[in-house]
Amino acid sequence: MSSLLRLPGLIDVHVHLRDFEEQHKEDFLTGTSAAAAGGITAVCDMPNNLRPVFTVARLAEKIVAARKKAVVDYAFYFGSDGRNAEEFAKAAPLVAGLKIYLNVSTGQFKVENEEILENIFSAWPKQKIIIVHAEGDKVDLALELAAKFGKKLHITHVSTKSDLEKIIEAKKNKVPVTCDTTPNYLFLTDKDYQKMGTLAMMKPPLAMQADQDFLWAHLSDIDCISTDHAPHTLEEKKSAKPPNGVPGLETLLPLLLTALTENRISVKEIIRLTNEGPRKVFGINQGIDTYIEAETEEEYKIENKNLFTKCGWSPFAGWIVSGKIVRTVIRGQTVFENGKILVRPGFGRKII
Ligand code: DOR
Ligand code: ZN
Repeated sequence: MSSLLRLPGLIDVHVHLRDFEEQHKEDFLTGTSAAAAGGITAVCDMPNNLRPVFTVARLAEKIVAARKKAVVDYAFYFGSDGRNAEEFAKAAPLVAGLKIYLNVSTGQFKVENEEILENIFSAWPKQKIIIVHAEGDKVDLALELAAKFGKKLHITHVSTKSDLEKIIEAKKNKVPVTCDTTPNYLFLTDKDYQKMGTLAMMKPPLAMQADQDFLWAHLSDIDCISTDHAPHTLEEKKSAKPPNGVPGLETLLPLLLTALTENRISVKEIIRLTNEGPRKVFGINQGIDTYIEAETEEEYKIENKNLFTKCGWSPFAGWIVSGKIVRTVIRGQTVFENGKILVRPGFGRKII
């Protein structure tokens, strides 16, 4: 039986497309091709490059590179170490938001000093959102700062029950906060880390079954699902100093569609989390001529050899999923169909 499902194009608000000095892991062409193959029509790229996006000049370099290579639409985040506040007013209109790291992640961009954090929250223009990597007591701190300075705050890749509980409470108290989680935390736990070792190493780390159960039970309190697509090569992941992060652009939708066939999520909820939420939280416009089609009853095995991401592997390799992405259409143009990218590099547009 054929059951073709049409969905508005997915918008992924948290990806690392690397490029530049890290083209051995991913570049704008391979990363956005992976997005198109995964039914994702727009991506928001993080600033933690080897040369981080702390200046408007650096941001301009990324814009130029993406304009030549991207096959899906895109936006960027600006980053801060607290020493670049004079760039904020110029950068803000050009980006989806400001990303700050309150905990350790890839790159050394953690901002520890609370006074510096206060300066960042105070200086960033209030029209644009601040998106943070915050875990544990850093969630409390981020919520305090958002309330104190009246700034919109988005807490990305929420992984635990206690962090989501704090966000739910803050929402009740009218703190202007939103959040996302990723398929990593919805479909993998610390048990998978025990099995897969460094391949499943990421920040925040995989949490416990009770955390995952809480995320599923409180999906309605979560605004978006992002991938945190964080490509590193298998060689790097298996090395003595493995980097944190896993790729995810090509597996998000098949995993959600599998959950759909298992009655764990509805089509309405998938659309809210992957399209309406991202549009509302980040102010992204996307027309009705941008959509995807998936065969929801077609089962297939996720295999590394079929992936477009340059890093060439997935933590979900070997999983049988039901939900094959047949077609990805952006602005009326078929970008991906039956396993092939059909547009030239540079088709993607900057959407913020
Ligand atoms: O595991 C992670 N890797 N978490 C992040 O937030 C960043 C990412 C990366 O850049 O590799
Ligand atoms: Zn990330």
